[in-house]
Amino acid sequence: MAKSLPQFSCTACGATHRKWAGRCEACGAWNSIVEDKPVSAGPGTRLGKGRNIALSTLAESEAPPPRSASNMAELDRVLGGGLVAASAILVGGDPGIGKSTLLLQAVAAFANSGLSCMYISGEEAAAQVRLRAARLGLAQAKVQLGAETSLRDILSTLDTECPDLVVIDSIQTMWLDTVESAPGSVSQVRAAAHELVSFAKRRGVSVVLVGHVTKEGQIAGPRVVEHMVDTVLYFEGERGHQFRILRAVKNRFGPADEIGVFEMTGAGLAEVSNPSALFLSERGTPAPGSVVFAGIEGTRPMLTEIQALVAPSTLGTPRRTVVGLDSARLSTILAVLEARCGIPFAGMDVFMNVAGGIRVHEPAADLAIACALLSAREDIALPAETVVFGEISLSGALRPVSQTENRLKEAQKLGFCEAIAPRLLKPATIPGIVLKEMPDLAEVVGQVFGAG
Ligand code: TYD
Ligand code: MG
Repeated sequence: MAKSLPQFSCTACGATHRKWAGRCEACGAWNSIVEDKPVSAGPGTRLGKGRNIALSTLAESEAPPPRSASNMAELDRVLGGGLVAASAILVGGDPGIGKSTLLLQAVAAFANSGLSCMYISGEEAAAQVRLRAARLGLAQAKVQLGAETSLRDILSTLDTECPDLVVIDSIQTMWLDTVESAPGSVSQVRAAAHELVSFAKRRGVSVVLVGHVTKEGQIAGPRVVEHMVDTVLYFEGERGHQFRILRAVKNRFGPADEIGVFEMTGAGLAEVSNPSALFLSERGTPAPGSVVFAGIEGTRPMLTEIQALVAPSTLGTPRRTVVGLDSARLSTILAVLEARCGIPFAGMDVFMNVAGGIRVHEPAADLAIACALLSAREDIALPAETVVFGEISLSGALRPVSQTENRLKEAQKLGFCEAIAPRLLKPATIPGIVLKEMPDLAEVVGQVFGAG
C-alpha cells in the first residue's frame, strides 16, 4: 500500500492543505497551518467480518428524555425546556462576550435545582473563578471547581466523581497527550471533544463545551465540534451594548432558532423576559428613518427598532454601512426600490442599524428595512404606533410571512395600533390593530409615503 501523504489543516478555519504554508489560502490567517497527525494510524488491512447489529422499527415507543430545569427561564427555553441528561452542548461565542459568566451562573442554577455540577476552567485559575462567583453572588452554590487542561486527568476525575453536569471552559485549552499537536489545533480540539462527548454518552453525564469563535464566525478548530454534539448554542451581542442573545442553531432535543435574551450588568447576566419592551424602551418621539419591526425569534415574537440614515455622498461609490442586518439583503432592497418603484439611492450614503445591538436574520424584516429607507429618504416619520413586517420579492411584490397573528398580538400588547403587512392568505383580526395590507412595494411607497 502506498505510504499515506502527510496532511495539513488550518487551525483557524479547518481547511485542509496538501503542504505546509505560512498563510492559509482559504481564510487568510497567518501561521495557522499545522500537520494533522492521524488519530489512529492503523494499517490499511481489509475489514474483517463484524457482528450483526440489532435493528428495530420506528414505531417503538420511547419515553421522552428526562430533563432538568435550571430555573433560568431564558436558558431553559433555548435548551428546549431544560437540560437533557447525557447530552453534549457546545456554547460558542466571541472572546469576552460573557460565555464564562453565563455558564458559571448556569452551573450554579443547575446545582441549586439539585444536580451535581462541576466546572472545569482551562483558562482561569480556581481563585479567579471563585472571585467571579463571589461577584455574581454565587459563592454558596454547590459547584465543584477545577482548573485543569489535561484531559486525561479531567476524564479520570469525572469517572470517579460522575457528576450530572460538567462545564469545560474552553475546549480550545484542553489537550490530550496522545495527540501530538498543540492545544487549540484542529486535531486536539477534535480529539478532546470526541473523548468528552463519548464519555458523556457512556456515563450519562451532560457536558457543556465552551468554544471560542474565530473572526469568520466559525467555532475555532473548526465546525468539527458542531456535528459531534447534540446542541449548539451561540452567545452573541455587540460590544458596547448590554444585550446578549443565546441562540440555538442546532438542537437534537428541541427547536432550533430559539433565543434567550440576557442583559450584562455589573452583577452578571440578568434575564430579560420581555425583550420587546426593553428594545423599544430607548425609542423617543417618532423620527424619520425609524421603523418598528414585528419579528419572530424562534417561537417568540419580538419587536425591534430598525433605523436608517440616508445622506448625500461625496464618494464615487456611496457608503452602505449595516449593523445588525444582512448587507446583501440591504443591497437587494435598494435595487428593488430603484427598479420597481423608481426611487434611486445612487449618490447617497446609506447607514442601517438595529437598535439595542441585536441582529435580525428574518426575511420578514425586508419591508421594515424598505420603510426605514423610504422614511429616511423622504424625511417622513411613520406614525409612532405602527409596526411593519413582510418579505419583498425581486418583483417588488410583498410575500406573506409566518406567524402573522403572533406578531400582531405582540404589537397590540405593547400599545401599537396599526400594522403595515403583506396581503394575508388567511384573514387575521386582532382587536385594536388596524391592518394595512399591501400587495406590493409600489403601493407602500404611494400610500404610506405619498411618493413614487
Ligand atoms: P467572560 O464571561 O469572561 O467572557 P468569555 O468567557 O466569553 O470570554 O465575560 C467577560 C466580560 O463580561 C468582561 O468584559 C466583563 C463583563 N462582565 C460584566 O460586565 N459583569 C459581570 O458581572 C461579569 C462577571 C463580567
Ligand atoms: Mg471565558
